[in-house]
Amino acid sequence: MPQINVLPDSKIVEAEPSQTLLEAILAADIPHTHACGGQAHCSTCRVMVLDGIENCTSPTEAEKILAKKLQFPVHVRLACQTRSSGNVSVRRMVIDNEDIDLGKSQLAAGAVGVEEPIVLMRATIRGATNFDEVNFPYDILYVMGRCFKRSRSIVSSYGGNIDCYMNNRFMASFQPHTAEGVARAVWAGLELIDAIDKLNEFLAQLSYNPLNISLGIHYGAAILVPIDPERSSALLPLGDAVNIVSRVETANAKLDTKLLISEPAFDCIRDRATARRRGSFSLSSDDRKMAVYEVSAMTGEPPENIPPQAEETGLSDRLLSFVRKLGRGKSQ
Ligand code: FES
Repeated sequence: MPQINVLPDSKIVEAEPSQTLLEAILAADIPHTHACGGQAHCSTCRVMVLDGIENCTSPTEAEKILAKKLQFPVHVRLACQTRSSGNVSVRRMVIDNEDIDLGKSQLAAGAVGVEEPIVLMRATIRGATNFDEVNFPYDILYVMGRCFKRSRSIVSSYGGNIDCYMNNRFMASFQPHTAEGVARAVWAGLELIDAIDKLNEFLAQLSYNPLNISLGIHYGAAILVPIDPERSSALLPLGDAVNIVSRVETANAKLDTKLLISEPAFDCIRDRATARRRGSFSLSSDDRKMAVYEVSAMTGEPPENIPPQAEETGLSDRLLSFVRKLGRGKSQ
């Protein structure tokens, strides 16, 4: 009878050829997660086949659909859909509640650790001097709050999503992950520069130092990791593309520029951008160099289907809502 070596439990289980891996493992009292009861809907029974993949049956139609959605590699199989005609060694992949939450996120986002092309923007906001050293906490809160709010609104109006903030930086990804997404990111970058200029006029009236924005855009492969089971759009990009966009952005300081894009991003929009080559840097993964381009303008009309900006509420309405919130806070 075929044997299944089940990890991380380190148990050898015997399986009838007619039994699925899930049935055999459950019969051996191993708590193998199977949230949908073996219907190929949940993917929580997934296993990584470490040895003996040639002994496993081909994926069923139901497994193929789920595996395609989650982009499983060939050695990740649904235990509820797989039988074995010989010995196999498998590792259970959903062990605890956190794994279940992760699986839930992946089902919503359709992403399981597969690299795909993505459009990334990294932005750094700096004061004309060391902003966080020369201002009081209230000033930092006030100025950066205004700046990030405006930035978020511009990024989302061009189909972008800010994936993370860190200190005076943010990272955003833009949909779609194609040349069109690159164009959207560059349009957004140009508008962000304009917005900071306008914000600086306002800050000057309040005797604040002006802000500088430094932007880098790159088009390259990254793994999108779901970070919130409740929000399928909350994806954290990881991989080479993140390192490269960081290097593109930081090159602004040396080149005295505000908006630089990498060579792969430039290739996507070369027919509609006013840009010039400003330098290059070595990629850490090999000896190749990657050029960076400064973009000063885009030709043609901004992209269509930009979601309308939320209707601005009048100052008195906002004050009223603020006062109501305060009142609620006190009564709690
Ligand atoms: S138990 Fe749900 S997919 Fe296998």
